[in-house]
Amino acid sequence: MSNEFEDAARVETIRIRGLNGEAVGGNFYELVGGKETFRKIATKFYECVAADEILRPMYPEEDLGPAAERLQLFLEQYWGGPTTYQELRGHPRLRMRHNPFKINPQAREHWLMHMRSAVESVGLSPLHKAEMWAYFDRAATAMLNSFDE
Ligand code: HEM
Repeated sequence: MSNEFEDAARVETIRIRGLNGEAVGGNFYELVGGKETFRKIATKFYECVAADEILRPMYPEEDLGPAAERLQLFLEQYWGGPTTYQELRGHPRLRMRHNPFKINPQAREHWLMHMRSAVESVGLSPLHKAEMWAYFDRAATAMLNSFDE
């Protein structure tokens, strides 16, 4: 599909560094509480997915634990934490990895609804929450690959 959603590069890891390699603008990962915050987000998100009649059947594995761990590691890396995701899974290529699943606007809405609960559950500052939310909203749009019911 070649359309505006093809700017999928935006959901990949981007790091902006100063001349000496330092993170520019502070490290979001540390500021929001590091690994523990992302562990809580991924765990809460997958608790909601487990009870979702649209999303649950999409997950190939019976145990959602490994999927929660992949999401956690990806988010840690994306927000400036350890790069364990990349070491274990390679380049994220998220849009490509989501191709096997039918992601229509309804699936996107369900995904975002659960991610909203997950983000709310960790009590971020309003600014950090807004930044994280803007990312999830954009990334979930980039993942759309179907407009069929
Ligand atoms: C828009 C609706 C979305 C749906 C329905 C969806 C569904 C799925 C499914 C079914 C999987 C496979 C389970 C697994 O083996 O891990 C998956 C994997 C994954 N998803 Fe999503 N996803 C959505 C959006 C997103 C977004 C917005 C992100 C990131 C911000 C994301 C991050 C991931 C990651 C990191 C993986 C694991 C990739 C891997 O290493 O294999 N997903 N998703």
